[in-house]
Amino acid sequence: MARILVCYATTQGHTGALAARAAARLTAGGHAVELWNAADPPPSTQPPEAVLLMGSLHLGKHQDALARAAKAGAPLWAGKPVAFVSVSLAAGSRDPREVAAARAIATDFLADAGIKGAALHLAAGAVHERELNWITRWMMREILAKHDATPDPSGDTVFTDYAALDGFIDAFAAGL
Ligand SMILES: Cc1cc2nc3c(=O)[nH]c(=O)nc-3n(C[C@H](O)[C@H](O)[C@H](O)COP(=O)(O)O)c2cc1C
Repeated sequence: MARILVCYATTQGHTGALAARAAARLTAGGHAVELWNAADPPPSTQPPEAVLLMGSLHLGKHQDALARAAKAGAPLWAGKPVAFVSVSLAAGSRDPREVAAARAIATDFLADAGIKGAALHLAAGAVHERELNWITRWMMREILAKHDATPDPSGDTVFTDYAALDGFIDAFAAGL
């Protein structure tokens, strides 16, 4: 059993839901998990033995709160297992150049934070229209149309491959 910090940032809530899913999965595997929204003050519990970072791409970058948490944590986490789940629409693109661009942003994020050797998973995100103002909703519909993706009539269009995410979390946990 390991003490695992799941540190996440979310703008429309989807990555928050994925972080809760990952935390529940790790807890079910017998680990002691601390789930931390990086927008909140840091937890004051014992330092973790492993760290799972999760954040989403907005206009080409991950949330500032996650970047601050990762930079502050990097010296404390050196030598410990760290994994990063980067959530974006590009991750689910059929265009390999878009996927490569998302990978490069995530790799740069880790390098900027000073985190070496982290496992990386790109997860396709979601569009939850009720979380968006009309102009952003219109912009997201344009992006989906450009990618031949039909918005779900419910307003929640989810692209996440949950099995792939679960597999990544399980592989991370297996290495602890
Ligand atoms: C305003 C806005 C900007 C976005 N910018 C990007 C982007 O630059 N690249 C990308 O691949 N996805 C982008 N996305 C898609 C989000 O990464 C995706 O919707 C993700 O699921 C959001 O996660 P969250 O709900 O945790 O914030 C954007 C979404 C919104 C609403």
